[in-house]
Amino acid sequence: MHATAIAQPNIALIKYWGKRNVSRNLPAVGSISITLSDLYTEVSIDFSSGLSQDELVVNGKRNIEMLPRISACIDSVAGGDRCRVRVSSKSNFPIAAGLASSASAFAATTVAIAGAAGLSFSTSELAKLAGQASGSAARSLYGGFAELKNSGENIEVTSLCSDDSWPIQVIVAITETGQKAVGSTVAMEFSRKTSPFYKSWIAQQDKDLDSARLAIDRRDFDGLATVAEHNCLKMHSVMWTSRPSLVYWNSATIACMQRIRRLQEDGCKVFFTIDAGPQVKAVCLPEYAIDVREALKKTPGVQQVMVSGLGTAARLIESS
Ligand code: DP6
Repeated sequence: MHATAIAQPNIALIKYWGKRNVSRNLPAVGSISITLSDLYTEVSIDFSSGLSQDELVVNGKRNIEMLPRISACIDSVAGGDRCRVRVSSKSNFPIAAGLASSASAFAATTVAIAGAAGLSFSTSELAKLAGQASGSAARSLYGGFAELKNSGENIEVTSLCSDDSWPIQVIVAITETGQKAVGSTVAMEFSRKTSPFYKSWIAQQDKDLDSARLAIDRRDFDGLATVAEHNCLKMHSVMWTSRPSLVYWNSATIACMQRIRRLQEDGCKVFFTIDAGPQVKAVCLPEYAIDVREALKKTPGVQQVMVSGLGTAARLIESS
C-alpha cells in the first residue's frame, strides 16, 4: 500500500510538439530523447492514509493545480474505484520551468502507483500509462536514447541505445527558476490551431527522426548536432508564430545559444536544445564538458549550471 519510485527527466533531441488525439494524448509527431542521470524526481505513494480525497505535496508544499492530472494518472493505473492516496514528490531541479519535470514526475508516479497497488506491468505498459498523463513521461520509462512513436493507436516507446553505450554529457544552464507562463499541453493546442508553420513542422518530422536515428546508430555526434539544433529551432518557430505567441526564451537563453555557437567555432563538440522554457541544455562529448560548463557559468544571466550524464529508466526503490 506504500511505494516510492524515482525517475529522471528526459530531454528531447527531436521534439514532440502537437497532438494527433487530444483525449488519448497521442502525439502528432515522433520524438527522440535522452534520459538524464543527475536530475531526478522521487515520488512516494501512500494508499493507506484514510483520506477522503487525494492529496499532493510537491517539494514539501501542498499543490492543488497539478492534483487533477495526478489523480487521473492514478485512476488510469489503479482504477477509478481505488482508495484515495497521498502523493509526495520531490525534485532536485526547478519544476514547471522547461526542465521536463512533468516527464520525471508522471513516470515516477506511474511506477510508484503500480508498486503500491501491487500491480505488475511491463515497461511498455507503464510507458503507455505514463504517456497518457504526459507524452514526454513515456520516454522516462527508458534509459539512454529512447524514441516515442507517433504511429498506431497506442503510445509506444522503443529504446535506441542504452545509457552506457554512448556516454554523452548534458550541461543545463538555468536562466530563470520561475514557472513558465503557458504549460506545454495548452501551448501545443495553440500551435496546432494557429501557427501557419504547424503543418510543415509535422510533415518534416519523419526525415529528422530518420537522420537522428542514423546518427545515434553511427555515434555520429556532428550529424546528431545538426539535426537536433535545427529541429529545436523549427519547434520554436512554430511556438513563436502561434497565437498567442509562445516565446519561452529570455536574453540569457539567447546569450547561451551564442556562446555555444562560439564554442562550436573553436572545435568543441557541443550543441544546444531548448524546450518550453528559458533553460538551455548543452549536449556535448564528455571531453568537452568542463569547457562547456565554465563557458555557460560565465554567460550573463545564467543563474545555475547543472551537469548530467545519461541515466537509466524509472524504477521502484521501495514498496510495502
Ligand atoms: C517541448 O510532454 O509536457 O518538452 O503530453 O501535454 O504533457 P503533454 O506535453 P509534454 O510536452 C513536452 C514538450 C517539449 C518537447 C519534448 O519533450 O519532446
